[in-house]
Parts: sequence; structure tokens; C-alpha cells
Amino acid sequence: MDIYSIAVCGAGTMGAGIAQVAAAAGFPTLLFDAQPAALEKGLELIRQNLSTAVERGKIAPANMEATLARITPVNDVALCMADVIIEAIVEKMEAKTALFTALAAVNKPDTLFATNTSSLSVSAIAAGIPHPERLGGMHFFNPAPLMKLVEVVKGKQTSSETWLALHKLVERFGKTAVSAMDAPGFIVNRVARHYYLEAMQTVDEGVASIKAADRLLEAAGFRMGPFALMDLIGNDVNYAVTVSLYEAFERAPRFRPGRLQAELVAKGQLGRKTGQGFYKY
Ligand SMILES: NC(=O)c1ccc[n+]([C@@H]2O[C@H](COP(=O)([O-])OP(=O)(O)OC[C@H]3O[C@@H](n4cnc5c(N)ncnc54)[C@H](O)[C@@H]3O)[C@@H](O)[C@H]2O)c1
Repeated sequence: MDIYSIAVCGAGTMGAGIAQVAAAAGFPTLLFDAQPAALEKGLELIRQNLSTAVERGKIAPANMEATLARITPVNDVALCMADVIIEAIVEKMEAKTALFTALAAVNKPDTLFATNTSSLSVSAIAAGIPHPERLGGMHFFNPAPLMKLVEVVKGKQTSSETWLALHKLVERFGKTAVSAMDAPGFIVNRVARHYYLEAMQTVDEGVASIKAADRLLEAAGFRMGPFALMDLIGNDVNYAVTVSLYEAFERAPRFRPGRLQAELVAKGQLGRKTGQGFYKY
């Protein structure tokens, strides 16, 4: 199918990054958020990312301006019309299904829908939406403009045409598409859960400090230590993903959410985005 335009719903950490990726790849891109302040913040994040890329000589200034010019902010879901819509809102099933229902009402029946969910069932998100065969998972990694991998997820109803179109779109974005089936946490988040959970357990048992655990794991070859990474992801988002996997795997002890992270979430210390998490920013 022909894809000329993209809309991204949710202008937070991931949505802003995905909109930047789509616009940089040449697509006119709508960026929608329910909160006007979040939309402004998302646009600012994109400007900052692109300025940094210009300063580092990765892109030309004209390229930055052209990318920004392709992004149109919208604050009404009824204006969110495109050939492909990528959802990156809060990790809550009811919010995602309500959004896709609203999007289906204003878009063509063959508009493709993709969810960036980290841990919810793509099949359950698609159920109840008209033409569920046009919805699949497109799971980007953080920060989306830099991370190459995207898991392209086939839900129960996702048609092969949709799945193929999403793979091709990921490639047009300059990313690497990896096929995943609709299992809790797909591949990467399921395996990575233990990086976070075991690190928190280690600190909880007094085996290492947060800083020492991060430094050791970075020295062992990981790009980021688990605590610095949880702060980058957002402790609320990372915690929600763990809870979701814990429930999906019938409360298997290996997925039990970490006490340290639960406390930070309760205090609103969500990581970089709030200036405080495991570390202060
Ligand atoms: N943070 C990560 O590292 C990461 C990585 C991969 C996937 N994800 C997934 O991406 C999604 C978004 O995560 P995030 O970290 O960007 O979250 P975030 O909290 O940074 O941003 C979410 C944005 O969605 C907006 N929003 C919430 N409900 C909305 C609605 N009904 N309509 C429109 N906008 C709405 C909020 O105002 C906010 O700006 C989640 O599903 C998450 O699991 C996150």
C-alpha cells in the first residue's frame, strides 16, 4: 500500500522521538497529544535533539529546519488523519483502545494502525476496533531517533499485508525491523526485565550500591547501567511494563516488580523527565 503521511499519538518520550524519525525520513507528520503542555514539551525535545545533531555535524542546519517543517502539532483527535497512525500514549489498555476507536471514526477504513506498547497484548488492543486486521505492533526503543531496532508485532488479527507494510515502513524510517509474535513483552522487554529486576534485588540485598551496580555493568559491556537506563525510560513506564508482564505470566516470581522502583513511582520520582529518579538530574 502507498504511505504518504504519518500521525503519531502521544508527544512524550517515545512519541516525540518517533515523530522526529518519521519527519526526518521525509513524511509529513502530525503529532497529537491530549495535553497542550505535553505537546509543547515534545516539540521542544525534537528541537533539542535536532540541534544536538547539527552541533555534532550529523545533519545540516537546513535538514533540521526541513524536518521541523514536516511536523504539525494537533490537539484534537478528530484532526488526526493519516495513512499510518503510530500510537505512543500512556501504557494503559483502556486509554489505547479508546484512542484507536476515536481514530477509526475519523480515518479511512484502510488507514494502518500501529501501537508502540511495550507489554500490552496487541491482539487485545485491536479487538473491538473496526478492521482489526490493519493494526500491528511497532515497538521502538528509547531514544527512538538513535536506536535502530524496532520490533514489528503480529497480533492474532494482524493481516500479513499490514505486517509487511509496517516492516517496510520501519525500513523507510532507516531502522531495522525484527519480527515478533504477540507474546507478553515481545522479545526484548521480556528478556531485559531481569536486567532491571535483578539489579534492584542486588541493591536491596545490600550487595552493591546503585552507582556501583551501574558502573560494574557498564564496565562489563552494557551501554547503560540498569538504574541509569530505568531513569531514561521513565520509572513509571518501566514499572508499568513489569506489572504487565508479572500479571501476564500469572505472577511468576521472576517478574515480581521491584520495591525500589515502586517507591520512586509513588514519590513521583520518574527519572530524567522529572529531574529525579534513582539519580538526580
Ligand atoms: N519510555 C520508553 O523507554 C518506552 C520504550 C518503548 C515503548 N514505550 C511505550 O511507549 C508508550 C509511551 O511511553 P512514553 O515513555 O513516551 O510515555 P510518556 O509518559 O513520556 O508520554 C505519554 C504521552 O501520552 C500522552 N497521552 C496520555 N494519554 C493520552 C491520550 N488518551 N491521548 C493522547 N495523548 C495521551 C501524555 O500526555 C504524554 O505526553 C507506552 O506504551 C510505553 O510502554 C516506552
